[in-house]
Amino acid sequence: MNIKKILLKDVKLGMCLADNVTDLVGRLIYKKGFYFTSREQVIRLYDEGVKSVSINLTASLIDTRTDSQKAKVVDYSKKEIEMLHSKIENLDTEIEAVKDIYKESQHIIEDLMHNARFGKALNQEIVQKQTVDILNSIKSNELALFSLINLKNFDEYTFTHSLNVSILASAFAWHLKFSEDKLISIGRGAFFHDIGKAKVPMSIINKPNTLNESERRIMQMHPSYGEQIFHHENMKSDIELGIITQHHENYDGSGYPNKLAVNQINKYAAIVAIADFYDAMTTERTYKQEVHPSEVVQIIYSLSAKKFDPRIVNHFIKTVGIYPVGSLVELNNNQIAIVKAFSKENLLKPIVETLIIKNGVLVSTGQLISLIDSELFIKSVYKSDTKLNEQIIIKE
Ligand SMILES: [Fe+2]
Repeated sequence: MNIKKILLKDVKLGMCLADNVTDLVGRLIYKKGFYFTSREQVIRLYDEGVKSVSINLTASLIDTRTDSQKAKVVDYSKKEIEMLHSKIENLDTEIEAVKDIYKESQHIIEDLMHNARFGKALNQEIVQKQTVDILNSIKSNELALFSLINLKNFDEYTFTHSLNVSILASAFAWHLKFSEDKLISIGRGAFFHDIGKAKVPMSIINKPNTLNESERRIMQMHPSYGEQIFHHENMKSDIELGIITQHHENYDGSGYPNKLAVNQINKYAAIVAIADFYDAMTTERTYKQEVHPSEVVQIIYSLSAKKFDPRIVNHFIKTVGIYPVGSLVELNNNQIAIVKAFSKENLLKPIVETLIIKNGVLVSTGQLISLIDSELFIKSVYKSDTKLNEQIIIKE
């Protein structure tokens, strides 16, 4: 690990802290593993009297390339941005197109859970077809599907959640360039990952507040219940079995049900684990508030080498971005904007659309800006309620 102590003035966005940062009286400001994603975070350290910080250069998302390498990347990014611009122009139509697949998938998962609960056979062919449809949508309309994932529907959590996890895991695996067969198995496995919850009593699934010890123990049986259903249904794929049984195992061996060590954890389960965590954290449920997607990205980073495999974390962030599609951000000129797309080479400089918001209501949208070509930068994440997000993402 390459660690360097640097002055605060030299901190760049994307740098990762190698140590906890505390104020003068020892109160924690930022934890080890924290990523700087806005200038306000650096200014806060100035205000607290911090003069320098230790940076983990290996984990940082900063450019260490030579000038000629950088020029190539800028060239590539500009082409990519041009392509993304044309995709954004058609985004509303594309969202309409993928909405049907999304709704249909929700019903399929609802049926699967219902059938599993009552010991009826699961319709595996329809899951197969749906997974292929989702995968094809990701390949042509990834931005549209990612925008839909941001639309959290509280009442249908269990169904939307499995679907979102399947979309995220499939997109992630696609970026990792797995073969078509594996992509489908990962998508199917993610679709089925929580099928064991069908055997957990509804009173525990729907409990509005935190589970007590014995309820938690029952809830933590769901990967094993899932395994029983898998065998009962004569399912065959090892990838799917790995996902169902190991998606709650942790990199540091603290997970459940088997406290597996890192070299025993199936990599497909590790992929689904991150997608599962991301979607669960960004969703509001009765017992917790939703967390903003870009904050979840930070939390995932901070759990790198604890809950998650660091190599997988880095790739995942390149799939969802530091400011995921649909994030609301505040620019340095105080304009509010929504993230529409990003280039993998410039996660900190996405394409945004400015918004005019009055009293929490979207009045109109403004212009598209590629931050990579602009003096403007993201100052902070703009926190709003889900209602506003809905108005912005789906303009009906
Ligand atoms: Fe689960």
